[in-house]
Amino acid sequence: MKTSTIVLLTTATVSGFSVQPNNVRPSTSLNGLFDGVKDAFSAPPSEIDSERETPIDRWMGWSVVAQEQEVDAATPSDFLDSMDASNYVSVELTKPMGIIFEENDAEFGGIFVQSLKEGGAAEESGKLKSGDQLVIVGTKNVSGLDFDDALGAIIDAPEEKVKITLFRGTGKQFYGPTGPSKEWLAEFCTKGGVESS
Ligand SMILES: *[C@@H]1O[C@H](CO)[C@@H](O)[C@H](O)[C@H]1NC(C)=O
Repeated sequence: MKTSTIVLLTTATVSGFSVQPNNVRPSTSLNGLFDGVKDAFSAPPSEIDSERETPIDRWMGWSVVAQEQEVDAATPSDFLDSMDASNYVSVELTKPMGIIFEENDAEFGGIFVQSLKEGGAAEESGKLKSGDQLVIVGTKNVSGLDFDDALGAIIDAPEEKVKITLFRGTGKQFYGPTGPSKEWLAEFCTKGGVESS
């Protein structure tokens, strides 16, 4: 297998040389070739769009997506520290809680508060807002779970009052590059979030 690959490559190289006009100054042609490669390596990233993206573009970080992520990381206008407990709310509620949850985009997973039922336990508590990301039920990490599993954690909780902890930010802020580390989240879950008042 290896041998035949080498043979193929050699053949290609040879035929590449044979098409050079007159074969007069191979060294110049070669230099030209390498200049071309160099130019490709230093080409401005703006010329590459995602449809033309090749593996080397990705490897060099030239892709449009990578650029956007870089910009996001460098100037995150909406940065919110997901490893700061003060950006979370914990509340103990009896069921039914009166929270209408909605699933995040599939790339994130997890659920967030879509709205609160009028007169329901959650609304009465005055602690939750639509948009809050459900992270912990009791001490169980439910971040990233799909709708049924995340909600199932609340439904299955045996306590009369179930403590839930939510991140007061967007799905992107929690599940994107600025999300909490596994270690931080694990410890935060063990503590059951923040103090609920
Ligand atoms: C929390 O659960 C999600 C989904 O199962 C998982 O991806 C994540 O690693 C978990 N985090 C911790 C700290 O256990």
